[in-house]
Amino acid sequence: MRAVVTGGAGFIGSSLVDRLLAEGWKVDVVDDLSTGSLANLADARTIGRRSLSFHNLDITLSQSEELIKKIKPDVIFHLAAQSSVRPSLDNPVYDAQVNILGTLRILEGARLAKVERVVYAASGGTLYGEVASSKLPLDESAPIAPMSPYGVSKKVGLDYLRLYREIYGIEFCALALANVYGPRQNPHGEAGVVAIFAEKLCKKQQCVIYGDGEQTRDFVYIDDVVDAFVRASEQGGGLLLNIGTGIRVSINDLYQIMAKACGLTPILEAIHLPPKAGELRDNSLDPTRALVHLGWKQWTSLKDGVEEVIKSAKQVV
Ligand SMILES: NC(=O)c1ccc[n+]([C@@H]2O[C@H](COP(=O)([O-])OP(=O)(O)OC[C@H]3O[C@@H](n4cnc5c(N)ncnc54)[C@H](O)[C@@H]3O)[C@@H](O)[C@H]2O)c1
Repeated sequence: MRAVVTGGAGFIGSSLVDRLLAEGWKVDVVDDLSTGSLANLADARTIGRRSLSFHNLDITLSQSEELIKKIKPDVIFHLAAQSSVRPSLDNPVYDAQVNILGTLRILEGARLAKVERVVYAASGGTLYGEVASSKLPLDESAPIAPMSPYGVSKKVGLDYLRLYREIYGIEFCALALANVYGPRQNPHGEAGVVAIFAEKLCKKQQCVIYGDGEQTRDFVYIDDVVDAFVRASEQGGGLLLNIGTGIRVSINDLYQIMAKACGLTPILEAIHLPPKAGELRDNSLDPTRALVHLGWKQWTSLKDGVEEVIKSAKQVV
């Protein structure tokens, strides 16, 4: 099987590339390295040897359509994106260029190359918008009501996938990802609280918690997310599927778990700063539909996943 992985030099994409290569796929990565890096593909280069190609290319350019037409992959895993909320508020035009026009380029490439399936990284944290905590965990029937340009652009990507399935018969599976964490996540980005805490704690520095810390998130481990992408290359056609744990973890609890895993006892206190405007209070995603259609469920506990993150952060600091 041959795959194009857009965003394959990023946090999730590069981990997916490793898994695909280990399973014998031939993989073409398309990435402009705007937030990703070649270092993330170091393992893939070792595993992949002649099965991996890298194309330093902006997906918004027409060359990306032509490249896909030339490669003729069986599956496109489309992960390249402006992947954060705050930059989308600062520069919604750039966000739309990459996430909407870029997705359209990829779909046009898929149409020209007669690609059978596109697996899409949607965002469960921003697609559904703010809902009462009593309604959590959210299933896929929840109203789609994004509250940021990023959420809107990801929703439009999904709309185009549905349209291309309807009019050109290109199958898709869209994964609404919860808060993904794991090794290789950038600790300097705005998201990725696990990566940020891990870096600070490994340096024995105080962490910052915005607000009272009782806001909750649904943390899902990278290997489990990659597993969902691989399953979605064959199953879950035409569906939006939540990839989360259904478990809400407060930032305060996450901090305690991580400080303990780092051996910082008595626990180093975190600093509390005012809450960030526009942040969701609570979020968690019901993964039942992914179990039914992909046979997918969370495999890694938060404790085990966090230990892996700390182990890899210790190698860097
Ligand atoms: N990390 C999460 O918790 C999370 C949650 C929900 C959805 N997602 C989605 O999953 C996908 C991967 O996220 P990630 O956390 O690995 O982010 P990331 O920023 O590490 O990866 C995105 C990759 O896309 C590349 N890219 C950006 N713009 C590009 C362009 N114009 N042309 C080519 N390549 C481009 C970047 O260089 C990077 O390698 C994104 O689509 C993101 O929206 C992530």
